[in-house]
Amino acid sequence: MFYRLARNGFFQLDAEQAHDLAIENLKRFTGTPVDLLYRQQLPHRAVNCMGLTFRNPVGLAAGLDKNGECIEAFDAMGFGFVEVGTVTPRPQSGNEKPRLFRITEADAIVNRMGFNNKGVDYLVENVKKAKFDCILGINIGKNKDTPIEKGAEDYLICMDKVYQYADYITVNISSPNTPGLRSLQYGEALDDLLSQLKAKQKELSKLHGKYVPLALKIAPDSTNEELEQICQSLLNNAIDGVIATNTTLDRQIVEGMKNGSEAGGLSGRPLQSRSTEIVAILAKELNGNIPIVGVGGIDSYVAAKEKLLAGASLVQVYSGLIYQGPSLVKDIVKNI
Ligand SMILES: Cc1cc2nc3c(=O)[nH]c(=O)nc-3n(C[C@H](O)[C@H](O)[C@H](O)COP(=O)(O)O)c2cc1C
Repeated sequence: MFYRLARNGFFQLDAEQAHDLAIENLKRFTGTPVDLLYRQQLPHRAVNCMGLTFRNPVGLAAGLDKNGECIEAFDAMGFGFVEVGTVTPRPQSGNEKPRLFRITEADAIVNRMGFNNKGVDYLVENVKKAKFDCILGINIGKNKDTPIEKGAEDYLICMDKVYQYADYITVNISSPNTPGLRSLQYGEALDDLLSQLKAKQKELSKLHGKYVPLALKIAPDSTNEELEQICQSLLNNAIDGVIATNTTLDRQIVEGMKNGSEAGGLSGRPLQSRSTEIVAILAKELNGNIPIVGVGGIDSYVAAKEKLLAGASLVQVYSGLIYQGPSLVKDIVKNI
């Protein structure tokens, strides 16, 4: 009820203004009596995955809290885990505005934000200050002006800085909004990146006396053959988890709709079936050896269940939360 009213107000604003206002309010109100408007007590539905115990399998997907400013608010909403980022070594402003669009007809969003974030040091300071019970994932990326051949260096810098503060780390090579980034998903480039990350993980786990699992986040736009190759690289390099999927470049489903032809990555309901299909392909190829986090168009308990039945151990939501509010998390957790 409260969210329906709030949504009416937010949807009058430009999408990015609404996003910024929501983040500001969550920062301001968490820990005050006002947070009762979104604080939720959810049943315990513990899941063990990547060596971690999640209080429930529903997570916040990356990109909503890019700088780790609202971890306590999302913890209060009852998420089993919150993934902050994508964060890059140096702050960057992202692409020109406007760069975030709603496709309300399809409960969808198009974004070409381009990893706007305040840099990894700022995120780490926020994480250090926050008090929360959920699992924390930190999603890392490369700066736009780092040449793609040197991309691995950016991931290693971020890993060094976030390692001791993260429960798991996500390596994002699947955003469509950083030129060349998705080329890291294939062939030798992927093997090379994963082996360097794995070596860094070994070094840091010795240094900090703690093993932090590494998950790779992939795009929904690969062919089945490419997916098989990605799975082979994940298995060869003993990566701890895979997150499927990021946003899609495909626009077929939203053709002719308002904002449907904006450049960027499409998320929300139009992505639902393709991302579930990808989860199923990964489940077949990985055969239980690497856990899968399913994300893409989850807007109900039924959609979450589809991802779990396709082989995901955990799910994440982003667009569904924008369209439905925190009760979506409750609905999924209660019915799972
Ligand atoms: C505005 C926006 C920004 C996003 N930023 C990121 C990001 O920085 N890193 C990332 O890994 N995914 C990012 N994503 C992708 C989401 O984490 C998620 O994978 C995708 O939106 C599909 O889930 P959904 O259909 O529930 O939104 C972003 C999505 C949106 C809508």
